[in-house]
Amino acid sequence: MSGRVNLLVPEVRANPYPTYAELRRSSVCQVDPGGYWVLTRHDDVVAAFKNPQVFSSIGMRVVTKPAWLGHNPFADSMIGMDPPNHTRLRTLVNRAFGPPVLARLEPRIRAFAGAIVDRIPEGTPVDFVDAFCLPLPASVIGELIGLDPTQHHLFKRWADDLTSITSIGPSPGQETARMAEIRATVKETEQYMGRVLASRRAEPRDDVVTDLINARVDGESLSDAELMNFMFLLLVAGLETTIHLMSHSLRLLMEHPDVLERLRKDTSRIPRFLEEVLRYEPPVQAIMRVTTTDTEIRGVTIPKGSPVALMMGAANRDESHFPGAETFDMDREGTNNLPFGHGVHFCLGAPLARLETRLGLEALLTRFARFTPAGPMEWNRSMTVRGPVKMPVVAHAR
Ligand code: HEM
Repeated sequence: MSGRVNLLVPEVRANPYPTYAELRRSSVCQVDPGGYWVLTRHDDVVAAFKNPQVFSSIGMRVVTKPAWLGHNPFADSMIGMDPPNHTRLRTLVNRAFGPPVLARLEPRIRAFAGAIVDRIPEGTPVDFVDAFCLPLPASVIGELIGLDPTQHHLFKRWADDLTSITSIGPSPGQETARMAEIRATVKETEQYMGRVLASRRAEPRDDVVTDLINARVDGESLSDAELMNFMFLLLVAGLETTIHLMSHSLRLLMEHPDVLERLRKDTSRIPRFLEEVLRYEPPVQAIMRVTTTDTEIRGVTIPKGSPVALMMGAANRDESHFPGAETFDMDREGTNNLPFGHGVHFCLGAPLARLETRLGLEALLTRFARFTPAGPMEWNRSMTVRGPVKMPVVAHAR
């Protein structure tokens, strides 16, 4: 490729896949903003995920705690650690996300989904991010970490700010005001989460925060700072990602009316449809690592200490792994877990994300027959997650 690609310019943001195809064809290179080295072929991405000795998760910490921010509990959470530090924390939080927790949550999620869908007006344009994609995951995260359900928009703003840290390059120039906003968000979120933790210590409840406070493995528990870091991690990892899975699902249903018709006739096909949405439009497009040593890939040496983006968005369209990769085909065989990462950091919330999106779509397709776009979509700005910030849609009754 000639010149460095900028992955956040609006035309690439609106449709990054032709650029990813070029990147896959060319040798390993750097992109803007941030000068990340990008791995775009499926085999390279999986190999890097499997090799934390060379592709360290300290990369997640480095990119989410730049010097201008200084403090960010998300960056200090286990997502930015390598084994053995990561292993200890993952063991402590694992049980709080097991099958019994999902079973406990399922009826609540179904009730949330029904109530949210009932509030969507028919035959008139609404922003579906606001009306559907945000409220369901926000209600679920609220249930998990004890957030006040009337404050959904606040949590979305916090999660948006925390995921947009990666869109501010190393020479930020004009972006001083945005930096100040993000610093204020970190402080505000920390104060709020601090109050939630204090209230659960005073009055334990049957919820995940209480389970985390009480978690013990070999006599070890989570420190106050580790609890705070994990709450930040859940907010960022569990909200923005699932909102985008919902919005990509709806957009693909509008683009493929035949698929919508099949799902309406047989909702048991929704899980299969979601697997193809996750492949075709992965909400997490890239995960960051940093190299611990000089490493050679396809004849190019990536120097020690370089930020590297493992581009799942590109790997999921790699023809050598997915024949006909540029075609949305819900009859594609097999489960592709790469959208949820790979190896020791594999997404803790993957079953929950699949469950809430399935229940949300079931409720939506039970009430509405079809959906039509009602205006242009606006895309978010982040190197890691991709999805619309606005999605005007008209829902038509059955
Ligand atoms: C469609 C929705 C989701 C997608 C695409 C997604 C994707 C991912 C990916 C790619 C990773 C790997 C990060 C890495 O290797 O550095 C990850 C980790 C994680 N995810 Fe998710 N996620 C989703 C939903 C959720 C939900 C709903 C939760 C919880 C409420 C969650 C919690 C986590 C946590 C705690 C980690 C860190 C695991 C670790 O560091 O060991 N995610 N997710």
